[in-house]
Amino acid sequence: MFSAARGRGPLRYGILSAARGGTGRYDTRPVLRLKAEIMTRGSITIRNADPSDLDACFALFADALVYDAFSRGLLREKLWPDRWPPEMRGGALVAEEQGRIVGCMQHVVRASQRKAWIGLFAVASSHRRRGVARELFEHIRHLWPAETEEVEVLAIPGNYFSPGVDPRYTPALAWLEAKGFERFKDCVNMRASLARAFATVDDEARIRAAGVAVRRARPADGTLLDAFFAEHFGSDWRYEASLALEVDPPALHLAIEGDRVIAFAAHSTQNREWGFFGPMGTTPACRGRGVGRVLLCRCLNDLRAAGHASAVIPWVGPVSFYTRAVGAVVERVFWRFRRRGAIR
Ligand SMILES: CC(C)(COP(=O)(O)OP(=O)(O)OC[C@H]1O[C@@H](n2cnc3c(N)ncnc32)[C@H](O)[C@@H]1OP(=O)(O)O)[C@@H](O)C(=O)NCCC(=O)NCCS
Repeated sequence: MFSAARGRGPLRYGILSAARGGTGRYDTRPVLRLKAEIMTRGSITIRNADPSDLDACFALFADALVYDAFSRGLLREKLWPDRWPPEMRGGALVAEEQGRIVGCMQHVVRASQRKAWIGLFAVASSHRRRGVARELFEHIRHLWPAETEEVEVLAIPGNYFSPGVDPRYTPALAWLEAKGFERFKDCVNMRASLARAFATVDDEARIRAAGVAVRRARPADGTLLDAFFAEHFGSDWRYEASLALEVDPPALHLAIEGDRVIAFAAHSTQNREWGFFGPMGTTPACRGRGVGRVLLCRCLNDLRAAGHASAVIPWVGPVSFYTRAVGAVVERVFWRFRRRGAIR
């Protein structure tokens, strides 16, 4: 049993402070780790998760996340990505009882923004309401820099399973409320059918006549992309563009006017098995010229060619644009949660 954790007595945070190195400043190590296993009172051990836990974590999440279908590979990408977006460090803790993983919570920190995220979290149905998730969170928040001012849930830029909590995961809503999180925004995932390819030839000709070339990005476009994202949309989307550029062929389409990029659209940067579109963006001055639609359609045609029957357009945003452009429909709703103020 885990009843002692309900007592909210002091935990051994001395070990955790040592793991932080004491400065609270961002460093380049990619993973935030407990220095040592923490044997909490009772029979539960909290420890770092590592890729050798993938099968056990997959069993846990596959059982708990009943509204989602995903592979081990996708879970691995979320918990242990090959790379992190700029300035991010992450990790995951597991709760273990007699060698069996009964809980897991992922977390990510971006110290430069004084911001942290809880990523995927789940507790085995046999172990719910015993404070396991609470205990994982208590340990995690003491790994974060003391200056952290905001914690968000799931909507981790560049590597997210979902852009918020699907409210059908009702115990998660209750848990977040109990931990002082507030719901501050909703967003949706849309789905676009790929039953037929999208025609772009006429629109591309019209755009070309107006001086805008549309083409697939090339590995040599790095400098062009650096300039574009430095001026518009920022480093998180630059990071995603770099992932898209590494896909073969590059999963990135550009609109170029003169020697400047004016719009981009990407796909397959993450969650590839879901036919994941995005991000995309057109510079404010160039909106309303049909450029974005062409780039979107080129990406969807790529996903279709890769064998997807439909595409997910996540973390939307401008619903009317996607429904008008490609007939996409809202498929899922997510509630975004955050907790602001002193984290500890
Ligand atoms: C959400 C989840 C992780 C909570 O884990 P847990 O270990 O059972 O949560 P805790 O025992 O730490 O709960 C702490 C508090 O949260 C609230 N809470 C948690 N589950 C609740 C529920 N089902 N109903 C009402 N309140 C709940 C309570 O206030 C609880 O305190 P109490 O038991 O003293 O009343 C678990 O229900 C789960 O795995 N759900 C499926 C996966 C999921 O939805 N993950 C989130 C999206 S990734």
